[in-house]
Amino acid sequence: MFDSLSMPRYGDKKNSDFFEEYLVRLLKERDQSGLTDMIGGIEAMLISVEPGNSVKYIAELAIMTPYQYLVTLDSDKHLTHVLRIDMNSPDILLREPKDENHYDIFRSLNDLYPVGARKHHSRYLGEILLTTDRHRVVELQQQREFRFFQLGQLAELDLPLNVSISKPSPYTQNVVGYMERPIDGIRVYHHGECIILPSAQAASDRGKEMQERLGIKEILLPVDHLATRVYSQNREAAILEYLALSSYYYWGSYDIKDQNSSTNVTKNIRLAPESNSPAKVFTANNTPYCVNHLDQLPSPTETFVRNYGPRLHHIAVDVKDGQTSGKENIDYVVDAIAAQGKGFLLETIGSRQEGLKQIFSSASEFSSLIIEYVQRFGDFHGFFTKENVAQLTFAAGQEEGVREDV
Ligand SMILES: [Fe+2]
Repeated sequence: MFDSLSMPRYGDKKNSDFFEEYLVRLLKERDQSGLTDMIGGIEAMLISVEPGNSVKYIAELAIMTPYQYLVTLDSDKHLTHVLRIDMNSPDILLREPKDENHYDIFRSLNDLYPVGARKHHSRYLGEILLTTDRHRVVELQQQREFRFFQLGQLAELDLPLNVSISKPSPYTQNVVGYMERPIDGIRVYHHGECIILPSAQAASDRGKEMQERLGIKEILLPVDHLATRVYSQNREAAILEYLALSSYYYWGSYDIKDQNSSTNVTKNIRLAPESNSPAKVFTANNTPYCVNHLDQLPSPTETFVRNYGPRLHHIAVDVKDGQTSGKENIDYVVDAIAAQGKGFLLETIGSRQEGLKQIFSSASEFSSLIIEYVQRFGDFHGFFTKENVAQLTFAAGQEEGVREDV
């Protein structure tokens, strides 16, 4: 049996007594109930974009990440593209509605927020976790008051029928799905007709050829972490909720006082590398916007949430440690991709001495998601450094959709 409380704690952010008490109770109960054993890592990440944008986003991801196009699931109301690295890393399920007037709960979540509403269908929806017994896991979670879409609702939402999917979180607005597959078996999604879309294949192939030409194909590695932004008052509940739904443990939190923000990290208890199951990071303001006028601190995190709604903010892609043409690999990657016209919100920050370098791209015009690149050097054992997180949090406030007072 796993002991989800056995891991060392990092970071310097002080949590409430409520959090510390319930963290222990929640993880103990989760381990004892068998849920930690039954729930594995992240199998797939669900992203939705506007009608007509998914092939363009495939082209972008094919250059900026190791993902390549596999197949398209053609269902009633959506085209869903399966993007894959290999079976050791999660898939991306990228979908677009066929009709721009399509309405569903995910659109409603976007429409509540001034910048989010500009792209009705574009958001990260959540992740699908591997389970050894999907129905038992759902049954246990329902007993614990977690809510799931019924089969009829899943059909109405036009989502894969072999995946159980939770209702969107009130804190993060993301869903969590559960699916099964045989050990060493291939991932299969029961969803519409499986086709190869020539335009998607061509967009992916062009991206891969470009990566090869730029010399970045071999140094871009799978996803390292997924970072969600939530309202200040929901920070602890969002962490506890994700821990209850997954088999992750609480790694710790950094307090970024200057940016009035904290970065909170959870990781998979199987201690699999992040490439196998990315860390889940939650970022929240230290104090809510309504008291900002008293301390006059910057507030990039909550401003993002007020403009876009609670949602995934960035996907971090790992960069292989090493140098190419006399530059650290991350600098080589950024220069190569920037030369193709992609913007970045800042210069690469950090150094070999500090243990890691990171950077944020500008937000994708298709998904609104930022790509972070991260290169960790040699035997750096930490996950983040406080200095880097502070600079990245500041830079995130420079993104167009956050700067706006809407
Ligand atoms: Fe990050």
